[in-house]
Amino acid sequence: MAEEAHRRYAEIMRDVEAMIEDHIARQNHEEVFPSKLRMLVPTAGPFFTRLPLEAAFKYQDRKRNISFRRYVAPSFNDVRLILNSAQVMAVTNGALQLATFDGDVTLYDDGQSLEPSSPVVPRLLDLLKKGIKIGIVTAAGYTTADRYYERLHGLLDAIAASTELDPSQKQNLVIMGGEANYLFEFSLSAPHLLAHVPRERWLTPEMTHWHEEDIAALLDVAEGALKDCVRAMNLPATIVRKDRAVGIIPSDPDIRIARESLEETVLVVQRILELSSLGVPASSSRTSSSTIARPRIPFCAFNGGRDVFVDIGDKSWGVTVCQQWFSSTGGTRIGGENTLHVGDQFLSAGSNDFKARSVGTTAWIASPAETVELLDELADLMQKRLS
Ligand code: IMP
Ligand code: MG
Repeated sequence: MAEEAHRRYAEIMRDVEAMIEDHIARQNHEEVFPSKLRMLVPTAGPFFTRLPLEAAFKYQDRKRNISFRRYVAPSFNDVRLILNSAQVMAVTNGALQLATFDGDVTLYDDGQSLEPSSPVVPRLLDLLKKGIKIGIVTAAGYTTADRYYERLHGLLDAIAASTELDPSQKQNLVIMGGEANYLFEFSLSAPHLLAHVPRERWLTPEMTHWHEEDIAALLDVAEGALKDCVRAMNLPATIVRKDRAVGIIPSDPDIRIARESLEETVLVVQRILELSSLGVPASSSRTSSSTIARPRIPFCAFNGGRDVFVDIGDKSWGVTVCQQWFSSTGGTRIGGENTLHVGDQFLSAGSNDFKARSVGTTAWIASPAETVELLDELADLMQKRLS
């Protein structure tokens, strides 16, 4: 039975793989004749690489014994992990140049920090040693290096102390905070090992058109909407206003705001901002909004698990900044097919990591332990390719 189940699942994966390949062949001239995949899944985003789904299924089946289950069909998590494996297999053909990571839930547990003992640390060092650039693209928005050092000291201290990384490899780590608002580069000589990079050195051409008054006006509207939600739903929450974000956090750290209330808040705020003529509606594409002289401001309203935040820009901008930064320092163009973003938020309201899907390949993990497994898979495949 297990053998037969394995054969049939593999066959299905092969069919989907072929459907994606057909879609890739047409994705640039779809107006003429949409692909079968486009008809079945109208919301499917761009594919930067092929996805070897059959091979990925075989790999995950060995690990999770999916075919040996008699009563429980392949689940959402099985499929998510198969897709991750396929994506990792696709980028380790030599294309991978930049790996970007979300912070909370991806590198460390929600609200925690990256400690020196974390198993993620040696694996990130290994990536740097292999010449891969790393961006930590987190929504956590702080204006100063000390706050990022607090969250990431395990990694920063390990890089500083490493005798295996050469100085140029150590330079290959940046922190992109507040989704796309604050850039810090690793620097041995800077306090807290992070040097703040002024915006004029990294803003993309489109981002230079985001006016400060429009940003402040958008955050004012968002703050008003958040206050209304707190009042209307009687949430045990406090408003936090920053220069590039506004959010609600529990008024007492021991209280959890109900998931449903957080989701409702995200949807309300998103709607109000879209209707306000200040924010970019979720449905409009990035380029159409950014080419006009005084564009609307892209924002990301999301449920962070325990809080809701509205940030200026989103991780698609944050990852783009990392691509441009390393393209200019390394001299080679880093595109979507050379980039892998690893994150946990792909489904909850606002899903901030999902935004990165439009500019690079992605892997969707559910815990720091899964990030470790993914990095091991990545390292194995890169090693195999080398040998
Ligand atoms: P991420 O998972 O690394 O993207 O971090 C998301 C979490 O960072 C949120 O759920 C918040 O708890 C926290 N956070 C702290 N400051 C900010 C901010 O300015 N904007 C968004 N999230 C923030
Ligand atoms: Mg996260």
